[in-house]
Amino acid sequence: MPLSYEEIFQENEKWVAEKTKTDPQFFERLALNQTPDYLFIGCSDSRADPDEITGLGLGDIFVHRNIANIVNPIDLNVASVIQYAIENLKVKHIIVCGHYGCGGIKAAMEEKGIGKNSPWLQIIKDIYRIHKKELERIKDEQKRYDRLAELNVIEQVENVMEMDCVEQLKGTKEYPGIHGWIFNMRTGRIIDLEVGTAQRSKKPKKSLVQRIFSLFRKK
Ligand code: CO
Repeated sequence: MPLSYEEIFQENEKWVAEKTKTDPQFFERLALNQTPDYLFIGCSDSRADPDEITGLGLGDIFVHRNIANIVNPIDLNVASVIQYAIENLKVKHIIVCGHYGCGGIKAAMEEKGIGKNSPWLQIIKDIYRIHKKELERIKDEQKRYDRLAELNVIEQVENVMEMDCVEQLKGTKEYPGIHGWIFNMRTGRIIDLEVGTAQRSKKPKKSLVQRIFSLFRKK
């Protein structure tokens, strides 16, 4: 339920009282340091709150959010967040999380309105152009935008993997799991798109000819 501006402070007092009632040292411990296992890169959409949808709590996720969860390598903001998460916090997983019904995705594709000449959303238009054939086969507009939201996540996961500080860790124990998610706010479910490191860990299937060839080579 939405709170008034004044009510936020009342709620905050209640929350502090609740937390310290069962655990008097809660805030002392919280203030010591942070050791989150996850870096979450998501959309600024008010309905796609990472703590709420994952069930993780304070200190568990390092978060970066922007319109349409874009990882643009020339964006100093997201680049710094990834670098800090990797080098200082040593997170175990990086998650790029998009969501169905994303206003940023829709705005980028509209003929009129805020997304029309938005430099920020240009990257979405480029993704659309690259996948135009596939996308234009989808007649239902909502489904088409949902697919574009998925393709955007896949693209942004690639951008994470190509960042210097991430790439440098390849082959080492510190290389984090890199994942692409979609939050389906119509069902509340998180969908793992199985891209990023999940995709790379799958061994490429050998063709029949390759398998026969390798049999001969063993002899
Ligand atoms: Co969004």
